[in-house]
This record gives sequence, structure tokens and C-alpha cells, in this order.
Amino acid sequence: TERLILDCDPGHDDALAMILAAGDPRVELLAVTTCAGNQTIEKVTRNALAVCAVAGIDVPVAQGAALPLVREQTVAADIHGDSGLDGPVLPETTRALDPRHAVDLIVEEVMAAEPGSITLVPTGPLTNIALAMRKEPRIVERVKRVVLMGGGYSRGNVTPTAEFNIYVDPEAAEAVFAADWPVTMVGLDLTHQATADADVVERIRAIGSPLSQFVVDVLTFFGSTYRERQGFDAPPVHDLCCVAALCDPAVLATRPAFVTVELAGRWTAGTTVTDFGDLLGRPHNTDVATTLDRTRLWDMTVEAIERLSRT
Ligand code: BDR
Ligand code: CA
Repeated sequence: TERLILDCDPGHDDALAMILAAGDPRVELLAVTTCAGNQTIEKVTRNALAVCAVAGIDVPVAQGAALPLVREQTVAADIHGDSGLDGPVLPETTRALDPRHAVDLIVEEVMAAEPGSITLVPTGPLTNIALAMRKEPRIVERVKRVVLMGGGYSRGNVTPTAEFNIYVDPEAAEAVFAADWPVTMVGLDLTHQATADADVVERIRAIGSPLSQFVVDVLTFFGSTYRERQGFDAPPVHDLCCVAALCDPAVLATRPAFVTVELAGRWTAGTTVTDFGDLLGRPHNTDVATTLDRTRLWDMTVEAIERLSRT
């Protein structure tokens, strides 16, 4: 089984990533850490605890970075609402947070575990991961790999070429791509294939549990903002794809390349520069996700919701 720490900013698609990570027996969710992104750190942490409550997820939740390393904060209220998880009714949560800062949790868990046994799955800005690398550089050789949602090679969603998670904290992202650990980039080219179309929503609704209703409410709100703001017929559930790739590598195809992040461009700051043609002559540092097996993705997600609904 793949043991993972999910570093997220819930977030509608982050919530789905949490649910799959907890509900698929092929992976073991060790902890959830939060990072400001879709909303402020207080809001996304509250949302993480609420998702744990609804889904019966019983792992440590630690709060992380409140602001990007260098830049002004940007949130995504236009897509995720004022709470960061608008749509479903969120339960009051009484559960205590892990007393550690997210960065300390990541460092301690990675350093305490067998080398090469923990995968980091960041589905928000990369601030916590970059800070953890700075605090304890030896995590880089001890982590198995980093499977992140962010970037893209043919498109952006904040600017024409920059994706939100990279755009919000490009300095952090640059450090994560540059470090000497295996990175898989699950970017927009892949995640825009992961739409929750009406047939998917109906399959989830048919499960008929409080959790499945929660997921339907999440996808309904996410669908409405994606329709209005981005002109999509159905919402792309980006972050879910990273966890799915750990559950079953066959869910996505990848292609190796050198990837780095533009920090200085006049129009292009936060762009993941992806050198498929080896024009820069640099060693490949990233497996870039290209093609999704959509059937596999939604089959495993429906099964995970069913499994969590029974327990
Ligand atoms: C990414 O940005 C966030 O809004 C989503 O949760 C996802 O992680 C997509 O660009
Ligand atoms: Ca996210």
C-alpha cells in the first residue's frame, strides 16, 4: 500500500481527494495538512475538519502556512465560495487539531518512517512543502515521491499560462520541482479530463448515504461556479487525480520532462515551463501527467464513497 500525507486547501476537489485517500484500501492516509490557497488558512483548516467529520476520517489534521513565501495572498473565492467549501452544510467540528504545525508534522513523519516509504501529495500551493524542505533538507532523500496537483503545459486557469496552485506561490513550487526527488506533475492538461459529468453525479447520488449527499452537494456547487466562471459543462475534479494515481497508477499516463517555474515573466509568472522537446538540455526532473482513464477514476471514487458510507 502507498502511504501518503495529503497537503491540501479544501476546496471542493481537495475534499474529494481526502475521501478517496481515506476510502481506497490500496492507499493509507497518514495525515492531512492544510495550506492557505483556495481560502485563508483558518477557513481551509475548518473545512478539512468538517470533511473528516462527514466522511469518518480519523487521522491527524495539522494546520500549515498562512501566506505564500514571497508574494501577496491570492484566494479562489470565485470558484470555491466565501467559506472555501460553499454548497454543502458543514457540520460543527469539535475534533482537536494536531498540536504541531503542518511543516513539523511533515518533517517528523517523514524522518521517523522507513526511507522511501512516504509519498507527499500536495493539492494546494506548495508553501508547506518548500518550508519543510528548508527546515529539514533530509526529507528530500527520504520521501518516496511527490505527486502534486498544479501547473500544466498547454494552459493556465488564473492567467493564460499559469495554474492557481503554482501561481499563488511560485517560489515554493520552483523549489519543489528543483529538489532531487521524484515529482509527478498532475496539471490542468490531465485534470480537465476529470470532469464530474451528470452520469457521475447520479452514480454518487444513488449510493444514498449522508456522505454521498455531501459529495453531490460539493459537486453541484463546484459545477455551478465552473459553468459560470470558466464555461465548463461539468467541473474538473483536479485534486482527486493525484490520489487516484497512487491507488492505481494505470489511471494516468505520464511523460518525463524537465519542468521549472517562471518567476520573473511579465505575463507568465507562475507558468510551469515543460521541456518535452529537451530544448534546454536539462535532465528530466518530472513525470508529467498527460492522459486520464476516466472510467477507472470514477469507478474507484464511487467505490470509496460506498466503502466509507458503510463504516
Ligand atoms: C487547483 O486550484 C484549486 O482551486 C483546486 O483545489 C485545485 O487544487 C486547480 O487549479
Ligand atoms: Ca486544491
